[in-house]
Amino acid sequence: MILNTELEYKGNLFPSKIVFYKKHVDTLYFKSENNVALQVTVQRDSVLRFRFATVSIFEKDFSYAITKYASKGYNLLEIEEDPTKYIITTSKLICHISKIDMRTAIFDALDNTLICEDELGFHWEESYENGGDIVKMSKVSQEGESFYGLGDKPVDINLKGKRFENWVTDSFAFGRETDPIYKAIPFYIGLHHKKAYGIFFDNTFRSFFDFCHERRNITSFWAQGGEMNYYFIYGPNISDVVSNYTDLTGKPHQLPPLWALGFHQCKWSYYPESKVKEVTNKFRKLQIPCDAIYLDIDYMDGFRCFTWNKEYFPDPKRMVKELADDGFKTIVIIDPGIKIDNDYSVYKEGLEKDYFCKRADGPYMKGKVWPGECYFPDFTNPEVREWWSDLFRELVEDIGVKGVWNDMNEPAIMDVPGKTFPNDVRHNYEGERCSHRKAHNVYGMQMARATYQGLKKFSYPKRPFVITRAAYSGTQRYSSTWMGDNVATWDHLAIANNQAQRMCMSGFSFAGSDIGGFAEQPNGELFVRWIQLGIFHPFCRVHSSGDHGDQEPWAFGKSMTDIVRKFIEIRYQLLPYLYTAFWRYADEGIPMLKSLVLYDQEDRHTHFRNDEFVFGEKILVCPILEPNAKGRRMFFPKGEWYNFWNNEIVNGGEEKWVDADIDSLPIFVKAGAIIPKYPIQQYVGEKEIEQLKLDVYFKLGKEKSQVYEDAHDGYDYKKGRYSLRNFTLEGKETSLTIQQYKSGKFITPYETFEIKLNGLPFKVNSIKIDNELVQIDKIKNNSFIVSKEFSTIIFQ
Ligand code: GLC
Repeated sequence: MILNTELEYKGNLFPSKIVFYKKHVDTLYFKSENNVALQVTVQRDSVLRFRFATVSIFEKDFSYAITKYASKGYNLLEIEEDPTKYIITTSKLICHISKIDMRTAIFDALDNTLICEDELGFHWEESYENGGDIVKMSKVSQEGESFYGLGDKPVDINLKGKRFENWVTDSFAFGRETDPIYKAIPFYIGLHHKKAYGIFFDNTFRSFFDFCHERRNITSFWAQGGEMNYYFIYGPNISDVVSNYTDLTGKPHQLPPLWALGFHQCKWSYYPESKVKEVTNKFRKLQIPCDAIYLDIDYMDGFRCFTWNKEYFPDPKRMVKELADDGFKTIVIIDPGIKIDNDYSVYKEGLEKDYFCKRADGPYMKGKVWPGECYFPDFTNPEVREWWSDLFRELVEDIGVKGVWNDMNEPAIMDVPGKTFPNDVRHNYEGERCSHRKAHNVYGMQMARATYQGLKKFSYPKRPFVITRAAYSGTQRYSSTWMGDNVATWDHLAIANNQAQRMCMSGFSFAGSDIGGFAEQPNGELFVRWIQLGIFHPFCRVHSSGDHGDQEPWAFGKSMTDIVRKFIEIRYQLLPYLYTAFWRYADEGIPMLKSLVLYDQEDRHTHFRNDEFVFGEKILVCPILEPNAKGRRMFFPKGEWYNFWNNEIVNGGEEKWVDADIDSLPIFVKAGAIIPKYPIQQYVGEKEIEQLKLDVYFKLGKEKSQVYEDAHDGYDYKKGRYSLRNFTLEGKETSLTIQQYKSGKFITPYETFEIKLNGLPFKVNSIKIDNELVQIDKIKNNSFIVSKEFSTIIFQ
């Protein structure tokens, strides 16, 4: 019996039978007898969107995640009906919607195999306390199914058997399995029977995913409010799932300036100016390449954003210029908390304009961060973002800062339960006002977006550079990211490896960890092993909290310094290769790091691998994750791989031991690859590139490679001023043919290539370039100089 003072507990509620159906262009509407509405939109042949409303009224259709540039359109859309179901057919998918209860099942249109099927399907619980519903979905997990994705979760690559929460959280010194941490990326990939699909649950409330943890064969996801609103993305290749997800939630709006792919040095904190100079000078003196130097919170006056501590930095403009003259780009931190201080202009302006977040009953949201008590701009208000973006004018335009680092934007609040705003805080949310329950997960993203807008405006005609700690799906459009406050332990090195791969698989490739560990101090060996991994992460920065000792490349003695230099030099040589991978990511959404499962999903051996990954398209890397190692066992995906250090060929498809003493790392190049290299520079632009080196790795058969170049900054490339070289290599028993096809209007500064032949199985007797024989004594030490304009070279 329910007393009139008690809540009626209704438990899970379900849609009943469909009583209404209509189609409008690309969208199908269904209604159930108990008033549940389902809307299915065919976004693309391989992408379906499902939205459910429990009282038949949908919310305003708005998403921070979905980009307006997302591709739309399909080749085929047919709807049929039989006594039990509706059948939607596109060229890629067949989707059944059950007439009795709205449950769905999705099949591959080519061979009719089952890809994904509802278990209970959509259901919900009413939430009296907050209004609205707790929306839930459960699906049957297929035999042998594996799961991937979800952003920065510090766990193994395969998520099977685990449960996760998405609630952006400041997580100092997080550990393996800590959940949630800094990012909310509610996107996962399922893989079974060699076929992969993705689900993006575009709901910003606190959400949960369960991959066969609660029940062995069931995958479920739910959120504490909002709509059941998800995209089903079919592959069948993981790589297509990821690029379609990235197409939906956006690719970086422009390429980063090339220097941003160089090496970055950071610490909490370098100050005063003399310390900054000491560090940058030492890089140059020791000839360790470095492009960016960071100023953490101590550069500010009492941690007030957009101010300078004039005692430490008496003339920031001069300093930034001097650093720039030496090739260093200065990057400064900006946090969201604005100090409550009547003499502080940003605070006064924010107050006057009513830009700070407020509690439900009207008081400001007051919270303690580095400056003490602060108020916080409501970045979900477009007007606030506009104001915030303008605050960067002086820093960027006048002082010459080249990048901004957004931190604490979960938002992090000190000394309070939950470490963030309470739920009742109000947000503008593009005019659709809401509580923090809904806005929390996007707060940091919107801060990064506003910062990006400022940087973009004031850096013009150069490209902006932003880095953020908090993120929701789509943040990759505006910013790079790091994994927050990790720890200097061997296990964290492994976590960093998993996180970078997972971020790439979750559409956010421009990511890296604090190399060496943020909290505590690594020994030289751990630092070196971390550098060896970090140079293969799209974002490559050493950062540490200063109270644990030094973490510059020279902090661990000369022999370690020499190894660090050697590896950073490899990164600088590989810049054109890395830049090409970034272009592929920005252009097509192709992840810059490929976990082995993404590289070869058909091979079951890859499904649970964590350590090895493919950097770009052709370089296989396996970090050393243990102390005192002289090498390790690693798995090679199928195909032939050249050992980067000695050109020995390894046949893939199995695990093998690889030697890798402290000055080495297992690095392998795919047979047939053509790897472009620049000379070692101390910073991007130090040298005019006078020649492009092409490291050619012989293979019996065909292989394609690409090299993308442009002015390395600015926007001319968007008008066609880029240079894309498509190479096709074809190796036979006694010949090697390389063909080049170039597109784009950019004229590269060099005139020639140095072609370095690796692994050629025959002696060259003749060389033909575009049908003309050239002297064979032009080959010296397997190297050969040729005009960059060639179309075909044949070595015989
Ligand atoms: C946070 C950041 C860290 C930064 C520190 C001081 O802990 O994650 O990177 O150095 O704040 O600003």
